[in-house]
Amino acid sequence: MPEFIFATCLPRSMPYLKRELARTRPDLRLAYSRPGLITMRTDAVPPGLSTPEPQAVFARATGRSLGFADSLDRIVELAELVAAPEIRVHVFARDPVKPDKQIPDYEGIKRWRDSVRGQLGTRVLDGDDAKPGDTVLDVVLPPPGMTDPIMVGWHIHDHWRGAAPGGVCQVPVPPEVPSRAYAKIEEALHWSALELHEGDVVVEIGSAPGGAAMALLQRGANVIGIDPARMDPRVLDWHGACGTFRHISNYAERLRTRDLPAKVDWLVLDANIAPHRALVALKHLMSLRGNSIRGLLLTLKLHDDGVIEDLPVLFAQISELAGAISLRATQLPSAHQEVVVWVQRSL
Ligand SMILES: C[S@@+](CC[C@H](N)C(=O)[O-])C[C@H]1O[C@@H](n2cnc3c(N)ncnc32)[C@H](O)[C@@H]1O
Repeated sequence: MPEFIFATCLPRSMPYLKRELARTRPDLRLAYSRPGLITMRTDAVPPGLSTPEPQAVFARATGRSLGFADSLDRIVELAELVAAPEIRVHVFARDPVKPDKQIPDYEGIKRWRDSVRGQLGTRVLDGDDAKPGDTVLDVVLPPPGMTDPIMVGWHIHDHWRGAAPGGVCQVPVPPEVPSRAYAKIEEALHWSALELHEGDVVVEIGSAPGGAAMALLQRGANVIGIDPARMDPRVLDWHGACGTFRHISNYAERLRTRDLPAKVDWLVLDANIAPHRALVALKHLMSLRGNSIRGLLLTLKLHDDGVIEDLPVLFAQISELAGAISLRATQLPSAHQEVVVWVQRSL
């Protein structure tokens, strides 16, 4: 039986996704595509896979495609094809084609979400965030400014995916933060489900001007920002109920063991350096505090096309040097020429 698959991605990353799938899943044949969405067909799922949809870095949400709808009734009809008695409903929009200029239509998405949930009634599980094993109905709306039909699909949730509708909720950048990295780290924290608690120590490599640091401080973390560039005064003078900030004005590779507290919980890297240099910085930090770091949230810059082909090797190197128990990667809605990597360690 042929299976029909869908995958969503950043519109500008569609060529990357197609290249990644050509390498990892040659059984998939491209069918229909629109900016930020491709559908594919497979006639023979490779042996050993538990699900026909691909696990691809450049695909943020994937699942089985049920078809397209232009009305609520048709969405409900397609949802009837999902056999599970209870379903989680994920209604989300494809990423905008011009992410810097267009924000998602949050109100429109909510209206569709409420209507679909209302029509499906008691079958629908409460809440948006999926749990492993949930059967999730995916209702994929067109992005702002487009009138394409709605795609309806489904998937079984697993640890590879973000739990939110579409894998990650786009976070708008509030006006009062020092940089758009605020939105990026908020999205990354939700996607990774990193368990950040008040008082946790976070070392951030590439912390200036401080959008991400501000988001971490708001969550009560004690942040040590490593960056030779200047930090925003709102971060340097942080006076929240909890959370502290310390700036080390230096390159990560030059840190000395006495610069850091004995225990560091999390390592965040967002430096504008090529991935091979990021690896050098990472290796150095692991040599200083590898005994206590529980997880790493890393941004790898896709400076040139060659990096895309190198990603599997880079991931293997990161896994090895971090002693990872799991590693997954995606592209966040607020992060463009880069991928975010979430590495969990067991101590
Ligand atoms: C994209 S910005 C970081 C944005 C920041 N995370 C925020 O929340 O505002 C990249 C930063 O990486 C810093 N950087 C580049 N190489 C570095 C290195 N080797 N060690 C530490 N910081 C570095 C740059 O100075 C720059 O401020």
